[in-house]
Amino acid sequence: MWNKVQETVSFLKEKGFSTPDYGIILGSGLGKLVDIIKVEQSLAYEDIPNFPVSTVQGHQGKLIFGTIGTKKVVCLQGRFHFYEGWSMQETVFPVRVMKYLGTQNLIVSNASGGVNAKFKVGDIVIINDHINMMPLHPLHGKNDDRFGPRFVDMHDAYDKPMIAKMQKIAKEENIKLHEGVYMALQGPTFETPAEYGMVRALGADCVGMSTVPEVIVAKHMGMTCFGVSVITDLGVEGIVESVSHEEVQIAAKSAEKTLSKLVGRFIAE
Ligand code: HPA
Repeated sequence: MWNKVQETVSFLKEKGFSTPDYGIILGSGLGKLVDIIKVEQSLAYEDIPNFPVSTVQGHQGKLIFGTIGTKKVVCLQGRFHFYEGWSMQETVFPVRVMKYLGTQNLIVSNASGGVNAKFKVGDIVIINDHINMMPLHPLHGKNDDRFGPRFVDMHDAYDKPMIAKMQKIAKEENIKLHEGVYMALQGPTFETPAEYGMVRALGADCVGMSTVPEVIVAKHMGMTCFGVSVITDLGVEGIVESVSHEEVQIAAKSAEKTLSKLVGRFIAE
């Protein structure tokens, strides 16, 4: 894995992807961020050595390098989900690449089902902690000490100063951001009403199928992480409604403009 990462990093550096300030995974809700980025370089995943190629409808596969204000960013447009059949190592490979391109900071977004009764569809939740319920762990197996330690502290998985900074920006923009715990399940099925009950009982505020493996390897490599989730459907007590991938995409889109603006300011400042 180490050699593969270094090979991909060398390739990208030659293409001009140099020491970004932020690595960003443009999950649901952050699509419009690309409109703010001054793009300098863009490569399809299939043209990048060792990169997996995304298959999910609505997720394009491009690695973008550019600037927001004076900050350099590298963006993953289209992420890799474990349910697509990738190994955990493949799922998190781009995060490892981002780190060795030279960034210390990871920003991720996703769509999730909200189980907190205060949430509405289209709301934005800053992830302040997570519960990992994925069936495999991205650090399973022999540890490579060059990436990070065997046992990783996850106390501050989601950086408190970054959360405070985003809350300050949101307040200035008159936007209400919730905070909450994100649970990662394997998917690709959405939750049954009983499973939503389990998510609530276990102490999460929202549930989805991504992000947690990425944040785990980012923490393994000593990165600082910020995560945000768009609530696309609800699994709160008494109102668990049916949901489709299309509905999830529509709800995520509704928050795109707001969230992209907030994250754009967050990075530029
Ligand atoms: N579960 C429920 N709703 C969702 C999810 C999920 O995994 N992802 C996006 N909306």
